[in-house]
Amino acid sequence: MVSRVIPVDSFDLVIFGGTGDLARRKIFPALYRRFISGQMPEGSRIIGAARSDHNALEFRALIGQAIREFGGAAAQIDNKLKEFLDNLDYVTIDAKGTNGWSELAGMVRKDLVNAFYFSVAPSLFGPLAERLHAHNLADQTSRIVVEKPFGRDLKSAKELNAILALHFDEEQIYRIDHYLGKETVQNLMAVRFGNILFEPLWNSQYVDHIQITVAETVGVGGRGGYYDKSGAIRDMIQNHLMQLLCLIAMEPPSRFDPNSVRDEKLKVIRALEPVVPHHIVRGQYDATQTEPSYRDDAGDPKSRTESFVALKCEISNWRWAGTPFYLRTGKKLKARASEIAVVFKDAPHAIFGQEAGRHRNILIIRLQPNEGMTLGVTIKEPGPGGMRLVDVPLDMTFADALGPEAAEAPDAYERLIMDVVRGDQTLFMRGDEVEAAWKWTDPIVQGIAERHDVPKPYKVGTSGPDDANLLLKRDGREWREIRE
Ligand code: BG6
Repeated sequence: MVSRVIPVDSFDLVIFGGTGDLARRKIFPALYRRFISGQMPEGSRIIGAARSDHNALEFRALIGQAIREFGGAAAQIDNKLKEFLDNLDYVTIDAKGTNGWSELAGMVRKDLVNAFYFSVAPSLFGPLAERLHAHNLADQTSRIVVEKPFGRDLKSAKELNAILALHFDEEQIYRIDHYLGKETVQNLMAVRFGNILFEPLWNSQYVDHIQITVAETVGVGGRGGYYDKSGAIRDMIQNHLMQLLCLIAMEPPSRFDPNSVRDEKLKVIRALEPVVPHHIVRGQYDATQTEPSYRDDAGDPKSRTESFVALKCEISNWRWAGTPFYLRTGKKLKARASEIAVVFKDAPHAIFGQEAGRHRNILIIRLQPNEGMTLGVTIKEPGPGGMRLVDVPLDMTFADALGPEAAEAPDAYERLIMDVVRGDQTLFMRGDEVEAAWKWTDPIVQGIAERHDVPKPYKVGTSGPDDANLLLKRDGREWREIRE
């Protein structure tokens, strides 16, 4: 199956923080892959803007090196890389001063789509927004892209929203949560709202519980200082896992347009019950013989920040009252595996008797790796000797079903950046959504601080602290195994 490339209009994309880590690892490699796919129209240009002194040639060399390092297979096609780099320009800029702004104003062509990517610390959002207007770079048609973390609590998120609102309309602001750009996450919507099969069962009458797991094998080494001020609840739950929960739990929007989808997600966040303390388990990875502990990585021997968290959440609405959502995420776990498991209830009456055992339908939506979906169904074990039941997967690994190209679907950043150029905000968070997510998260974080809660240590390469298993065991349930 050949993926279709939908043409977009020519653009000038300015990336503030153009020499930074995110730009080098994600943004430029993503743009390059879109270029290779033929989606970067002729005449489009990407302008890096940052504090460091470079001319355009030096900047191209720096980005070329980053693409070779982080761009995957496509990055090794050298003649294409040179062609791509020719579309890059650079300006040395002082985000809080005057340097570089007139030069940038002379570069950006107003007759093209203009997007400004703020790949910088949130403290610079205000100064950048202000200067874009002061130098006539931005108008009603420009778009700005902002990265997470969007604040660290409700107060700071409100302040950021207010600063941006001084200069831009909500329709111009693209707040990135890269989980929304993942292929399977969108497929989740396609499966729910493109089929009649699941929707009638998608409620507390038929769904026993839902598990959302984002497990990583990496630690926080290298960014321990930053991470230690954040922790898994702020870094992952408030945004990525919250977005997954919203897509699973939301009502069908009337249309697949930005505000219809985001209205429904917002209703879910607002219907979330506060999480009680004994429904939260926090953990921190221990040292091994060869690897440092979380506290070593964080550079604080007394750190109480969590590198793992498991939570039980409840949604108070007609559809979900009585169906718990269990969320868990952590670093240095046994495998890199992100999935959503929708565990359906038992059949109402067991006609095959106790010996047949307990069998449940489980729909697994696999985010990474091996993107795909599996529905576990119960069938008869072949052969004579009575009615023995067995669970088999109805498997839909995208690569198997749609060919290898499906496994190479654009990564999250490719899709999201192109959506900015297209002017489609569906996969971006609206301001009120981010604020509602913080409003729910704040009491969790505050409660932990007030209780002087200390995270439980866990061994590297496991599924986190044992208490996380108890959280489900108490409810007569168990986590699915974390495996690739
Ligand atoms: C980022 C977090 O937003 O998402 C990181 O700050 C985390 O801590 C990352 O590792 C996970 O993203 P992915 O796409 O690798 O699952």
